Amino acid sequence: MSRDVPVKPDYTNLDLPEPPADRPYVLLNMVMSADGKVVIDGTEAGIGSKTDQRLMRELRVNADVVLNGASTLRASGTSSRLGDPGLEQLRLDRGKDRYPIAAIWSRSGDLPLDRIFFKARDFEAVVYLSSAAPEERYQAVLAAGRPVHRLPAGTPDGSGELRGMLAHMRHELGARVLLCEGGPTTNAEFFAHGVVDEFFLTLGPVIVGGRATLTAVEGPKAFPKELVKRLELMSAVPNPATSEVYLRYRVAR
Ligand SMILES: NC(=O)c1ccc[n+]([C@@H]2O[C@H](COP(=O)([O-])OP(=O)(O)OC[C@H]3O[C@@H](n4cnc5c(N)ncnc54)[C@H](OP(=O)(O)O)[C@@H]3O)[C@@H](O)[C@H]2O)c1
Repeated sequence: MSRDVPVKPDYTNLDLPEPPADRPYVLLNMVMSADGKVVIDGTEAGIGSKTDQRLMRELRVNADVVLNGASTLRASGTSSRLGDPGLEQLRLDRGKDRYPIAAIWSRSGDLPLDRIFFKARDFEAVVYLSSAAPEERYQAVLAAGRPVHRLPAGTPDGSGELRGMLAHMRHELGARVLLCEGGPTTNAEFFAHGVVDEFFLTLGPVIVGGRATLTAVEGPKAFPKELVKRLELMSAVPNPATSEVYLRYRVAR
């Protein structure tokens, strides 16, 4: 195989099952170094190639909502744009809006209101704010002009915000497919409460190192042996041109 020919899967038209009644079908997407890290100098920039970024946008073609945790918004900014008229047309041809709805969730309400997520008007966006956030922060975020939906905090198993957000997406936004684009704290909560259906992972050809460097899933505690999440490989595509591998897993139930 020539090293000059990029090889990639086509993620523009995933064959996905019906979503559950109480939430969208959840895809999670991350790019990770060969030593399991997901940031270099505090952001994901530099791990994945342009082909990886293309795949991220192809995944968005399938999504009704694209979610990031608030720390990712603060570190990198987020949007749900596709950056390619061809990909946008695919959505339009399928009767969807040009872009998925962008979403973030936050407990603190400490959000950078000057970022594209808040300023842009070419894509819709929604903020999910825990009811643990102070009222003045809620008011400040609301004044930025995006809809803000408050989430129940302090439920016994700690999943109130997550389940509240997913139910709102499914029932109020009509979302059938949610693409969660991290970061690791958000991923950990999704895995801990068993609401990830598929995990898309690009393995990048870099070693980052560092004991404290974030990995793809960073919850407060490791899962014990009986609760580790098991994955079934759906596809693995090596790309000799970029030295990346594009992995798609189904989460075993
Ligand atoms: N390699 C990759 O593919 C990739 C992808 C995405 C991000 N990243 C990197 O990951 C880093 C950020 O990841 P992270 O793990 O620190 O954070 P994160 O998952 O992006 O965001 C965590 C934040 O989400 C909010 N949140 C979490 N659980 C919540 C709940 N139950 N209810 C309401 N809000 C909740 C909280 O926001 P508040 O703090 O506002 O309360 C929390 O601090 C960045 O450096 C980014 O560049 C890498």
